[in-house]
Amino acid sequence: MAGNNGAQNKTAAHIFISPSGSTKKTGRAICSMLEERGYTVREFNLAKYRGREKEVYEAIGASSLLVVGSPVYAGSALSPVTAFLNKMPTANKKPALAYVTYGTVSKGDSLFQLAGALDRKGFKVLGLAAVVAEHSMMFKSGNPLGKGRPGESDNGEIKSWVDSISSSLESTGGKSMDYSVARQRQLFGKVMQATAFRPEFQGFIFPPVSFREESCDSCGACIEVCPSGRLDNLPRINKSVKCLHCYQCVKVCGESAMSAPVRLMQPVLHALARISRGSSEPVTTCYR
Ligand SMILES: Cc1cc2nc3c(=O)[nH]c(=O)nc-3n(C[C@H](O)[C@H](O)[C@H](O)COP(=O)(O)O)c2cc1C
Repeated sequence: MAGNNGAQNKTAAHIFISPSGSTKKTGRAICSMLEERGYTVREFNLAKYRGREKEVYEAIGASSLLVVGSPVYAGSALSPVTAFLNKMPTANKKPALAYVTYGTVSKGDSLFQLAGALDRKGFKVLGLAAVVAEHSMMFKSGNPLGKGRPGESDNGEIKSWVDSISSSLESTGGKSMDYSVARQRQLFGKVMQATAFRPEFQGFIFPPVSFREESCDSCGACIEVCPSGRLDNLPRINKSVKCLHCYQCVKVCGESAMSAPVRLMQPVLHALARISRGSSEPVTTCYR
């Protein structure tokens, strides 16, 4: 991968996945703040670049800044994002920012994971942001966790964060920030990581999606929104591709051919969020 072109080349590559749109919206807010500071930004939704990762790696190589975004699922960054980072060619102290969006339950170690992956690839991590968003599993609820977020207060936090790091974005050399600050420290989050969020238990907390072929009118809406490619050959489901449990297929299916009992999880998620943050309002937290 090409070295850091630093101050003379103000181009940023923004890579993200955003099944229900909050991560994309947050990333756009960050990128428009970078554009105001003279950056040209190229955006790559990794769900649309499956099989074309080389193109994205080349664009990252040609940019002077990398911005990475992911939703939090089960206290972790989404696996296609971490897999993409783990396969990325190494960089030479190229500055990088990472952000996650989460639905007020727990951000877990998601940011720490992204920062670690970037650092191990030779990027210089300069800033991290955990942004509060509407909980994407609660689209069937009139009162979803994080309703209306990210909102004005979140954007204010993000703006101060970008302001405070913008001068260091163009500096060459140096090393990553101490990203251990983004580690899961709350006892509740640690307990969740050690129990319900473990991969072998996720099947219990994230109900599987069922497909009823006889109800399917082949409109293709679910194929369009599926971030993993599992539905690409519908009515045959690509079982070799892991379902991320984003439930976007359930959300868009007008014929109920795709279904999952997500409503059952709503009270559980509300209870978990209450335990996690007590009576305080969830806040967007930025690190630099
Ligand atoms: C399967 C699944 C797991 C989730 N796990 C968490 C979690 O561990 N903690 C949390 O606060 N929010 C969790 N969320 C909510 C998402 O992190 C949040 O809504 C995020 O903003 C979604 O991003 P997107 O709109 O870009 O898809 C989860 C959502 C889904 C669908």
